[in-house]
Amino acid sequence: MSTTSVSGDAELIAGLPAGFRWGVATSAYQIEGAVAVDGRTPSIWDTYCRVPGAIDNGDTGDVACDHYNRMPADIALIKELGFDTYRFSVAWPRVQPRGKGPANLAGIAFYDRLVDELLAQGIDPWVTLYHWDLPQELEDAGGWPVRDTAYRFADFAMLVFDALSDRVDTWTTLNEPWCSAMLGYAYGAHAPGRREYPAALAAVHHLLLGHGLATLQMREAAPRKIDIGITLNVATAYPASDAEPDVDAARRADGMGRRIYLDPLVHGQYPADVVADLAAEGVVLPVEEGDLELISAPIDVLGVNYYFSQKFTGYAEDGRIVGDDGLPISRTLPLDKPRTAMDWEIVPEGFTDLLVSIARDYPGLPMVITENGSAFDDHPDPTGFVDDTDRVTYFTTHLAAVAAAIQQGADIRGYLAWSLLDNFEWAYGYAKRFGIVRVDYESQTRTPKASALYLKSLAEQHRSQ
Ligand code: NOJ
Repeated sequence: MSTTSVSGDAELIAGLPAGFRWGVATSAYQIEGAVAVDGRTPSIWDTYCRVPGAIDNGDTGDVACDHYNRMPADIALIKELGFDTYRFSVAWPRVQPRGKGPANLAGIAFYDRLVDELLAQGIDPWVTLYHWDLPQELEDAGGWPVRDTAYRFADFAMLVFDALSDRVDTWTTLNEPWCSAMLGYAYGAHAPGRREYPAALAAVHHLLLGHGLATLQMREAAPRKIDIGITLNVATAYPASDAEPDVDAARRADGMGRRIYLDPLVHGQYPADVVADLAAEGVVLPVEEGDLELISAPIDVLGVNYYFSQKFTGYAEDGRIVGDDGLPISRTLPLDKPRTAMDWEIVPEGFTDLLVSIARDYPGLPMVITENGSAFDDHPDPTGFVDDTDRVTYFTTHLAAVAAAIQQGADIRGYLAWSLLDNFEWAYGYAKRFGIVRVDYESQTRTPKASALYLKSLAEQHRSQ
């Protein structure tokens, strides 16, 4: 079943601290379905899924894993697999239809039941407030490039916080703001599908502002010690060589992918080199007085989502270092590693380097791996079981990478696998499967894969060591 020997397991878990969390993660739009029930209104993803050609195979989240109707059985599965933490997101258009006004009680009731079910099973609930499903009406009013959206987000956060903070101890404001801003507003690869670079940078700032406003308000209202944080998708940007253009391309990638978020969050300022690069592109972040104080409101935990790392070069194929637009060249080159079904290179050492760099640049910030996982082309046997040795190996090598970072001083408190279930993988629809549990979308049957059993056994061994 697993490619790792028991002695290999023992070595691996010996490198993880006592009390280390073992969990799984999902997000609302990717699993819930039930998009038009109990008062939910459309989000930007409902709209985007209707754009011809936007999603592979024309897939939508209309049904997804039907988790809205199968939630108790899915929670029982998490329990059966031995995880102590479940990170899920709250659908904004379910809880606050149209993005404004009072809470929709029917929407809140679902998350109420979910939290109660988790607690009844002894599983720690971890709420993500925003995992990309902006109410469509807020996009119609301008979306994240508009400052008001940050205030709307803080209002929504407080509706959820008021309803669930009596039972939920750990809160993430935003999931992967880079994706919301850049994939959504610069590259047009995610909802809302816009390609407006300056607007994307405004979105970066307003997402961070929304995080800061929500963090402060939740902190003030907290009934007891509550852990609040944000989850970032971050990676190591390697230079292709020591040549100055390559080193500079890696610096710029790290600036736009990692430091543009972490510097304001932790140090209360945007990195000067990134601001200068943006100015050269004619882009100015719409920072108003007091914003950076809000954005740098202290957080308790940084959520790290890691999937792959990349190598950057500052040379074009013809050797030029400046493009026709007068800007420095930046492109990726292969690291020559095996790839997942997403075509992402498998780079566990990039995970260690990343975690160590965060510990170095932002000391004193506890981290939890809020997502890590891989899509492969699964081949179920006639019973639906998938012997996903490739995914098991991915988990083994990436957990070893976490242990190596801890060894080098990084404060990492847990690991949440992505994902509990095969689910709606955004622009790839259902074609890409990240689940440790197979979902047969026809019958909605769930079948744990070898990787689920592997993680279960690791967590059990770790707890009993
Ligand atoms: C990170 C995102 O948070 C999640 O929604 C997505 O499915 C995974 N990456 C895999 O792409």
